[in-house]
Amino acid sequence: MYFCVMKTKPFIHCMKKIFYLSIVCLMMVACENKKEKSDNADDPEKKVLVLYYSQTGATASVANQIKSCLNADIEEIVCEEPYDGDFGATIERGKNELEKGEKPAIKPIVSDVQKYDIIFLGYPIWFGTYALPVSTLIDTVNFEGKTIVPFCTFGSGGLESSTDDLKSHLPKSDFKEGFGIRNARLKYMQDELDDFLKRNGYMEGEIEELPEFTAQEELTDEDKNVFHEACDDYPFPMGTPVSVAKRSTSKGTEFRFITSSVDGSQSTVLVELRSEDGAKAEFTKVIR
Ligand SMILES: Cc1cc2nc3c(=O)[nH]c(=O)nc-3n(C[C@H](O)[C@H](O)[C@H](O)COP(=O)(O)O)c2cc1C
Repeated sequence: MYFCVMKTKPFIHCMKKIFYLSIVCLMMVACENKKEKSDNADDPEKKVLVLYYSQTGATASVANQIKSCLNADIEEIVCEEPYDGDFGATIERGKNELEKGEKPAIKPIVSDVQKYDIIFLGYPIWFGTYALPVSTLIDTVNFEGKTIVPFCTFGSGGLESSTDDLKSHLPKSDFKEGFGIRNARLKYMQDELDDFLKRNGYMEGEIEELPEFTAQEELTDEDKNVFHEACDDYPFPMGTPVSVAKRSTSKGTEFRFITSSVDGSQSTVLVELRSEDGAKAEFTKVIR
C-alpha cells in the first residue's frame, strides 16, 4: 500500500505539472493570436489622397468619382500660369516647353503627402505621357515610400507609357496598377472605375471573372469591319490590323487587334462591341 502511495504521488504530481504547463502553453498561444489580431486592428485604415491635374475637366471627373467612392481627400494641381483652354494653343506651348526642357510652375500643394498611404495621381496624357504640370509636381514633392495609383484620361491611350515614366522618375515609390479611360468614353467611366476599384481591392463588391483572350488569329472580314467601325473616325493613324484575339464578357465582345504601322512599329488596339441593340464598336485604348 505504502509502495503504491509512494508511486502514485509522483505520478499525480507529474500530471499536475503537465496540466499546468499545457494551460500556460494555451495561454501563450491565445496571447499570440490576440497580439496578431490587435496588430491588424491597430492598423489604421489607409489614408487616401486624390491628387490630379486636369486642363479641360475630363481627368477632374475621374478624380471626383474616386474621391466619392473612397471617401478620400482631394486636391487639384494648379498652374501658376494656366494653359489656354484651346487645344492647338496648349499643343504649341507644351511642345515649346518640352523642346526647351522647361516645366510649368505650379502653386504649392496644400495637402501634406506624408500623412497619406495611397496617392491616386491623375493627369491627362500629353505627348504620350503625363501632362507637364505633373512633371513639376514630382520634381517638387517627396513621394518616397508612398503607394501610387496612376489614373489618366486620353484621346487614344498612354496609361502604360506614363506609368513607366513615373516609375523611372520615382523609383522609391510603390506603383500599383493604374486606371485609364478615353475622354470619348467618359459615359462608361463610373462603371469601369467601379470595377477597377473593386478588382484592385480599394472597394468591396462583386466582380465578374473575365475569361482569357483567345490566341491572336488571322482576321476575318467581320473582324476587319469591327476594327474600321471602331477606329476610322479617330483623327490619328492607328496602323493596319494584322491579327486579332477575342473574349466574351457580360457586356459583349472585346477584341485585341495587333496593328502594324508604315514605320514597322506595332501597337495593340483594344476594341469593345457591346451586345446592346445598335451598339457601335469603339476602341477603348491603344498601347503603343
Ligand atoms: C498638349 C496635349 C497633348 C496631348 N497628347 C495626347 C497623346 O499623346 N495621346 C492621347 O491619347 N491624347 C493626348 N491628348 C488628349 C488628352 O489626353 C485628352 O483630351 C484628355 O482627356 C484631357 O484631359 P483633361 O480634360 O483632364 O485636361 C493631348 C492633349 C493635349 C492638350
